[in-house]
Amino acid sequence: MYNQMFRMREVEIRACIFDLDGVIVDTAKYHFSAWRRLANSLGFDFTEAQNETLKGVSRMKSLELILEMGGVEKSEEERIALAAKKNDWYLELINEMDESEILPGIQPFLDGLQAEGIKIGLGSASKNAPTILDKVGLTSYFETIIDGSKTTKGKPHPQVFLLGAEALGVSPENVLVFEDAPKGVEAAKAGGMFCIGIGEQEVLGKADYVMPGFDGVDTGIFEKLSTTVGTDK
Ligand code: BG6
Ligand code: MG
Repeated sequence: MYNQMFRMREVEIRACIFDLDGVIVDTAKYHFSAWRRLANSLGFDFTEAQNETLKGVSRMKSLELILEMGGVEKSEEERIALAAKKNDWYLELINEMDESEILPGIQPFLDGLQAEGIKIGLGSASKNAPTILDKVGLTSYFETIIDGSKTTKGKPHPQVFLLGAEALGVSPENVLVFEDAPKGVEAAKAGGMFCIGIGEQEVLGKADYVMPGFDGVDTGIFEKLSTTVGTDK
């Protein structure tokens, strides 16, 4: 335990990589709504609890899991068409997004990181990530955007975050990842990074530290990360 405390205090955070859906904006509700519409069109329902297990999961993999939940089999060609249909519905929902949908505290926190010279990246499974960042007006904060079109392996594989760290020129041990999905937390930890879970402790227990959101949080959180990880584990 003391070794861990010592190691944590030695570490310097040089970059932060943010997940998008559920961390910067609450798009999880739009994904849920579009998937539910698709499930209903196929004759079965899809619950919010089931949706929880799909957070951080790519579009095609999510579809596969939903079809399994509904006991429905589809050919590869049909699955591609169904995923496109879901995405069209999702795009209709996010079309109206603007800066009012940025989650509380995010923008001041990004400003704080910039002021301290900490690099900022995005690591999202979503192929719509660049569109969403544009819609809410946050694109210019991000030095690199690794989205679902740049990866071949989904979370919990660390690829998305490792590519982000590489693009930022920062070693994984100096990177702090913010994630709301258990699979994303696993990905960050598998990549050798620190991870703050955004949500509930019971769900995100594998993160180094968990907080409900960014409201009132500033870069002083780095101090807290060092001490909390050392004393809690
Ligand atoms: C993740 C979401 O960020 O992106 C998942 O948590 C979603 O729910 C995945 O399925 C892929 O998103 P998209 O926009 O490429 O369909
Ligand atoms: Mg997420």
